[in-house]
Amino acid sequence: MRRAAAWAQVIFLSCCAFALSRPFTLEDYEAMRADEARTQAFYKAIDELAPGKAVLDLGTGALALLALRAAQRGARRVFAVEVDPSAAACAAEKVRSWPQIQVLQGRSQDLELPEPVDLVVHEVLGEIASREGVVSSLAEAERLLRPEAKASPWSVPRRACTWLAPARWPGPRYLQDYRARTGTLLAAPSEGLLRLPNLPVSECLLAEPRIFEDLHWDQEPLLRCQKRSLEFTVTEPGSLAGFVFFITVDCGQGAPLVSSAEVESHWANSLCPVDTPVFVAAGQKIVVETEVNLSGPTYCLEARLPGGQLLVPRTIFQ
Ligand SMILES: C[S@@+](CC[C@H](N)C(=O)[O-])C[C@H]1O[C@@H](n2cnc3c(N)ncnc32)[C@H](O)[C@@H]1O
Ligand SMILES: *[C@@H]1O[C@H](CO)[C@@H](O)[C@H](O)[C@H]1NC(C)=O
Repeated sequence: MRRAAAWAQVIFLSCCAFALSRPFTLEDYEAMRADEARTQAFYKAIDELAPGKAVLDLGTGALALLALRAAQRGARRVFAVEVDPSAAACAAEKVRSWPQIQVLQGRSQDLELPEPVDLVVHEVLGEIASREGVVSSLAEAERLLRPEAKASPWSVPRRACTWLAPARWPGPRYLQDYRARTGTLLAAPSEGLLRLPNLPVSECLLAEPRIFEDLHWDQEPLLRCQKRSLEFTVTEPGSLAGFVFFITVDCGQGAPLVSSAEVESHWANSLCPVDTPVFVAAGQKIVVETEVNLSGPTYCLEARLPGGQLLVPRTIFQ
C-alpha cells in the first residue's frame, strides 16, 4: 500500500513531451561533463587516439569538451561541429586560445570540412542510445573521413548498446530522493515511456538484461533494421512494473564500459510500463518482440507471457 501511495505521486504533467526535444542548457552540458564515468572513458580513448590526428568532434556542445581534450593531447587539428547556434557560439568562446580547434556551426550532415579527418569523436547518445540520431549523423559523417582512416580505430565510442529488462518499481525511497534532488515530481509517460533519472536499475531487475539495439561502429555493416525476439527468464520473483531501458558505451582503447544503469549516470532510464502489474515467479519466461529502425529512428515493442497473456500491447515510439 505504501508503495502504491508513493507512486500515486506520479503526477501527469502535460508538458513532458517537450522535455525530449528542447535544446540542451548550459546546466545540461555541465551535468554531462560532471558524469565522471562517461567523461573519463571518452578522455581515455581520445588520449590514446588523438595525438597527431585530424579530429571531428561531432556535437561538441557549449563546452567544446571533447574537442578541447583532443587538442590538449596533441591532435593536429580539430573540427568541432555543433548544430545549436548558441551552444556553438559558447564553444567558440571556450576554444579561443586553441588555434588548432575550429568551431563550425551546423549539422554535421550538411558541412564540408577543409580537410578530411582520421578520427570522429561523438557523444550524441540518448537514453535509448540511437534516439538523438547518432546513426544517421555518423553514417553521413563518414564521407568526411580520410579513405585510409577505417583501417584503424576511427570512432569514439566504437560501440553503444541499449539494453532491455523486466523490472519492478524502485522502492518508495526513490521518489523521495528524486523530489529532494530535483524539487519536482516525475513527469508522465511520453510516447509510452516513463523517464526515471538516477534509477537504481540493478535493484529493479527481475531478469538478465538483453540487447535491444546494437550500434557497433567498428564492425560493418551496422544493421539499420534490428528485429529481436527477446526471451527473459525471471531470476528475481516480483511484481513486474514494466521494461527498463539502459545504455552501455564502449569507448575502446581500454576505457571502462560506461553504463546508464549506474545511479550516478547523467543519462536517465526509461521504463515502458505494463498495463497492469503482474507477479512473476522465478523461472517464468517473458517474451518481448522488438523492432528498431535506426534510419528513423523508430522503435517498437510488444511483451507477452508465453501463454499469450499480453503485458505491453504493441507500443511504437520515436
Ligand atoms: C549530448 S551533447 C554532448 C556534448 C559534448 N560532446 C559532451 O560530450 O559533453 C550532444 C550535442 O550534439 C549536438 N548534435 C547532435 N546531432 C548533431 C549533428 N548531426 N550535427 C551537429 N551537432 C549535433 C547537440 O546539439 C548537442 O549539443
Ligand atoms: C526505416 O525508416 C526509414 C526512414 O523513416 C524508412 O524509409 C524505411 O522504409 C524504414 N524501414 C523499414 C524496414 O521499416
